[in-house]
Amino acid sequence: MTDIAIDMAAANAVTITDISMQFQGLVVLDGVSATVERGQAVAVIGPNGSGKTTLLNVISGIYRPVSGTVHVGRELVTGFRPHRVAQLRVGRTFQHLELPKDLTLLRVALLGRHTVIKRGVFSYALGIPHFNSTEKVNRQAAMDALRSVGLDHLAQHQVQDLSYGQAKRADLARALAADPTVLLLDEPAAGLNDQEREELLALLQRIQKERQVALVVIEHDMSFVTGLCSKLVVLSSGRKIYDGDSTHLRQDPTVMQVLLGPAAQEFGTTTI
Ligand SMILES: Nc1ncnc2c1ncn2[C@@H]1O[C@H](COP(=O)(O)OP(=O)(O)OP(=O)(O)O)[C@@H](O)[C@H]1O
Ligand SMILES: [Mg+2]
Repeated sequence: MTDIAIDMAAANAVTITDISMQFQGLVVLDGVSATVERGQAVAVIGPNGSGKTTLLNVISGIYRPVSGTVHVGRELVTGFRPHRVAQLRVGRTFQHLELPKDLTLLRVALLGRHTVIKRGVFSYALGIPHFNSTEKVNRQAAMDALRSVGLDHLAQHQVQDLSYGQAKRADLARALAADPTVLLLDEPAAGLNDQEREELLALLQRIQKERQVALVVIEHDMSFVTGLCSKLVVLSSGRKIYDGDSTHLRQDPTVMQVLLGPAAQEFGTTTI
């Protein structure tokens, strides 16, 4: 990017520029550019296999793109390892939950603290009874994160005691415990029932407002997406085919065909 472009990027929480990604010669992302302003909620939508998770993995440092750049604020993070991206207060939840079943929720939330303050977290998470002031700060932040997702009363329960919806919220608490300014959420509402979905939508709306956090949300449920996000980025076969609000999206028959054609059943009760 030019200096002028970098100055413009400083206004954004995340700027991705001309990102391409391949796996064994298969083009999975093809020249994707997009911005996420500070405090903005942006949805990444598109059919299965369109490259949504891969894009989140590029932003969070899990994959290094073949070409293109990722900025977090002004900082060029392309090629950074995931923990270095996380240290810039970029939090992440995952499409497929991989929380150890025997961890207590407090320890799950504490895992999110290791990007903030390294010392003390692992001794606590591993159950070594060694307290100091750092651990108290970490514990407080972890409890605050559990409280903000409504799970503080279950802090001493294990992951295996939770419903699927609660486990997904525990994973969100892990990400929140690091006090992120950017939160990348990969299908946070997938597998939830209607009530859990409504509660999660209200929770994320509140978190975005109270913490002024920028959200990048992959989600197939369009009513959830439009309830949360002011901007929608649509991917199709690794290419960005739309970037704008939901009103204009509904008026774009080509993009609607991509979304509602082969993937129609996934949108279920969509209102678009
Ligand atoms: N590590 C990998 N190695 C090889 N191919 C991969 C890898 N990760 C993703 N892909 C391929 O890249 C394409 C995009 O995958 P991705 O997971 O980003 O899609 P998605 O839009 O998140 O799909 P879904 O809605 O099903 O979650 C798919 O064809 C997938 O098989
Ligand atoms: Mg995915």
